[in-house]
Amino acid sequence: MRMVDLIRKKRDGQPLTREEIRWFTEGYVKNEIPDYQAAAMLMAIYFQGMNRDEIAELTFAIRDSGERMDFSAIKGVRADKHSTGGVGDKTSLIVGPIVASLGVVVAKISGRGLGHTGGTVDKLESIPGYRTDLSEEEFINVVNRTGIAIVGQSRDIAPADKKLYALRDVTSTVESIPLIVSSIMGKKLAADDDVIVLDVKTGSGSFMKTEEDSRNLASILVDTGKKAGKKIMALITDMDRPLGVNVGNALEVEEAIETLKGNGPEDLVEVCTELAGWILKLADKAETIEEAREKVKSVIADGSALFKLQQMIAAQGGDPRVVDDFTFFGKAKVEKEVKAKRSGYISFMNTEEIGRASLLLGAGRNTMADVIDMTAGIKLLRKTGDYVNEGETIALFYTTNRSRLDAAEAAYEGALTFSDEAPVLPPLIRGTVE
Ligand code: URA
Repeated sequence: MRMVDLIRKKRDGQPLTREEIRWFTEGYVKNEIPDYQAAAMLMAIYFQGMNRDEIAELTFAIRDSGERMDFSAIKGVRADKHSTGGVGDKTSLIVGPIVASLGVVVAKISGRGLGHTGGTVDKLESIPGYRTDLSEEEFINVVNRTGIAIVGQSRDIAPADKKLYALRDVTSTVESIPLIVSSIMGKKLAADDDVIVLDVKTGSGSFMKTEEDSRNLASILVDTGKKAGKKIMALITDMDRPLGVNVGNALEVEEAIETLKGNGPEDLVEVCTELAGWILKLADKAETIEEAREKVKSVIADGSALFKLQQMIAAQGGDPRVVDDFTFFGKAKVEKEVKAKRSGYISFMNTEEIGRASLLLGAGRNTMADVIDMTAGIKLLRKTGDYVNEGETIALFYTTNRSRLDAAEAAYEGALTFSDEAPVLPPLIRGTVE
């Protein structure tokens, strides 16, 4: 096979075979195919697309490019949820303990945040002592003892994705559905789960800005998961407003704990109930989605989901006292009240910009080498749809460095649109793809 022939074939809109896709992926990981030819292939895929069989083959090639997890020593039905990323999205910290308290096994490998979106691993590391770097043996032990563990990626999972993603980043080929699906599912399928529920975000805080694009992405993600033999579905959820009130690492863990205590904000509770409900249904722990929702409510009400989170924290070396006393997270040195510059309804929050404001306070990273300030972030006291009076405190900023405040405030204020009339908000859950 010659790479130049494969590039020409894709350039001219012809589908690639399984063997050709594998040859390209394996050759690129082994540095046998140079970046310039791989870049040309990515651009050809970007313009010509791929059919669903090609997408599945590229996904499987990425999955098989590195180590695959073997969870056969873990007892029970294993489930995972995956979000395409957003601002204030702490759902894994809530959904995991909920379904684990109902007998579904959660053996989760999570990612770190980059740019305006946060990552579950960073959030968990805001808990003093919490280890996200368990060995495989420790990980399986914790899961078998408590029913849940959440760790970071330490093994060499899907190296083809690492290389291809870095190349996409510098060749303007990130926004391609075949490349996005194979990147997300190539990594997901390397873990050994039976059930996968996807949370495909839509709107200004997500990388799919329109509902149509999000639905299309969800449908192909689900199709690819089914081709790999998984029980899988997707929810399309709104990311045109941040999820919940708190944005930032320790702040988001605090909000997750409050939600498991039954004090969560309505939007966060709704999304978590649906995600957990669908996991329970696919894992055969409930016959209908209505029954599943009731089960979710009951484990929040009786404290068993909160207890599960506390058990996981302790089993992974974290200080379980954080659940009862948030002072164990430490405190940001600087706290600032941000006031409304005018009266009116908040009609729109550019959610990516809100995420950027939090990043500017120190809660996120621009490159993987940046160090995160765990206590930094924002409490959004008012959100889209709320009426505010001029001079009213609408947000609280937290940071350790006062010099960060001005840029963050400018980003936050630039994100807000006001109107004199109440905006009509679309539903939070835009649909399901089964
Ligand atoms: N998340 C991924 O892992 N890959 C993409 O291409 C986009 C989002």
